[in-house]
Amino acid sequence: MKRTGKAPIVALGVCIAMLTVAVTSELIAQQAKVVSSYGPTDQDVTFEQIKAARMAVKAEIAKQHKEMLDSRYDSFKKTDPAETMSGGKPIPTGPTAHLHGITWDNLDKMTPDEIKAKGVFPYRPLPFADHAEGGMLFPPMTINLLPRLERFDIEFDLPEHILPDAAPAIYLTTRPDLGDVAKGRLITINNYYEIFNGILNPKQLEGLRLLLTQFPQQQFNATEDRRNSKPEGMLGVTCFDCHVNGHTNGANHLVGDIRPQEFRHRIETPSLRGVNIQRLFGSQRALKTVEDFTEFEQRAAYFDGDIAMAAKKGVNVLERASQVHAMAEFLAILDFPPAPKLDIYGALDKKTATASELRGEALFNGSAKCISCHPAPYYTDNSMNNLKAERFYKQEMSNGMMMAADGPIKTFPLRGIKDSPPYLHDGRCFTLEDVVEYFNLVQQLHLKDQDKKDLVAFLRAL
Ligand code: HEC
Ligand code: HEC
Repeated sequence: MKRTGKAPIVALGVCIAMLTVAVTSELIAQQAKVVSSYGPTDQDVTFEQIKAARMAVKAEIAKQHKEMLDSRYDSFKKTDPAETMSGGKPIPTGPTAHLHGITWDNLDKMTPDEIKAKGVFPYRPLPFADHAEGGMLFPPMTINLLPRLERFDIEFDLPEHILPDAAPAIYLTTRPDLGDVAKGRLITINNYYEIFNGILNPKQLEGLRLLLTQFPQQQFNATEDRRNSKPEGMLGVTCFDCHVNGHTNGANHLVGDIRPQEFRHRIETPSLRGVNIQRLFGSQRALKTVEDFTEFEQRAAYFDGDIAMAAKKGVNVLERASQVHAMAEFLAILDFPPAPKLDIYGALDKKTATASELRGEALFNGSAKCISCHPAPYYTDNSMNNLKAERFYKQEMSNGMMMAADGPIKTFPLRGIKDSPPYLHDGRCFTLEDVVEYFNLVQQLHLKDQDKKDLVAFLRAL
């Protein structure tokens, strides 16, 4: 009886134990599936451990990324010495997309479904250099000037000839008589005052100072979770580390707006020239003012949109009336570069334009329908458009990134466009020739070779 009396209790105990094991393993299984919107703020490993783990995978990830880039692009250097950016750097020419066993003519004759089925669309979404890791990544030409911007764990992936000038020209709407104010100099906290004192008002000068001041950011900060290799990097980044001289150096990162990680877009730094005539900011965020974007960059974008991480790493909260406004007032006087061939309506001046440029303009405004999204004088509709490029490729993973549909994207202005390769929000088109091939497919235009050349000639004149 004793035994039989005990047996059910033991059995019950075993059952509870089994149940507990089952429930626990179920919980663990469930937990393993949880996709969190948050990054880990409670690091229990040291900087040295994190660094060692990152360094252990660095070479292999870089190798895979290079193989992907080589399979998509012919990266040999081609520039046109006769055509330069407004600061003097030769512009890259293309198309650079690597076609696998087909020609542009073959592609032009295929339907979107056929292109998708054969997997031959040349301009699929571009993954970040280490997509699972993400963060801000600066080109060597900028790191040479500002060594604090070097990350220990990822190397920049695009060749320098498809990037903008290292120290681009600056044009001010308020002082067009001065022409380029930068004159080949990189504007930093060390020289801005002597260059701009007497040209700007005191409020704009203060705005420029803040745009050139380092503040903590996800990869550049003092915590164990940082990726900066130089001690000065622990102070953070400045707005003009990416938007160099108010333009761009091709620094890129992952957009903060999307989760999970593999769906986040790679984003190229846009130029801030001409933000004054624009009404939407961010490729998809669509913030409505430059002030909002200025405030948002440091508070959210710097920390991948993770407000918990921002608190830990030292978010710098800008004061709206005295700081954000001052920064935005400086940004709002950054002008597009001069376009000597355009008249007051933003159209080509028939007396100075070439025959090819004029034919390109006629196509742009006519059968190629570019004008429906890019109207003069600044060549933007100040809206977002969905180009539905996913008609041409399958949703699948590429080096840690899900090549999903892009969704609606801001129509970036085309004034001064030859100064800011690579193109599109993620830089998937390295040259203006690539952009024309992209739209030829996306819009199903069936352009002839000469039409493509003429459109490029027109884009270069804008
Ligand atoms: C990684 C380098 C980087 C740094 C540093 C940076 N930005 Fe940006 N900025 C970007 C990128 C990339 C975008 C595009 C964002 C998107 O597509 O959503 C952007 C977008 C913008 C825009 C909107 C431009 C447009 O055409 O829609 C403004 C305005 C802007 N940044 C201002 C700033 C200010 C002000 C700071 C400093 C507080 C700053 N940025 C710091 C990379 C940077
Ligand atoms: C339906 C609207 C639409 C039409 C038509 C259109 N575009 Fe665009 N364009 C866009 C959008 C949206 C983007 C941004 C896409 C992205 O970043 O992924 C863009 C981007 C561009 C860019 C790159 C801008 C940058 O800063 O990187 C160029 C150059 C361009 N378009 C030229 C053209 C030309 C040339 C045509 C005609 C052959 C054309 N577009 C037709 C909407 C349009």
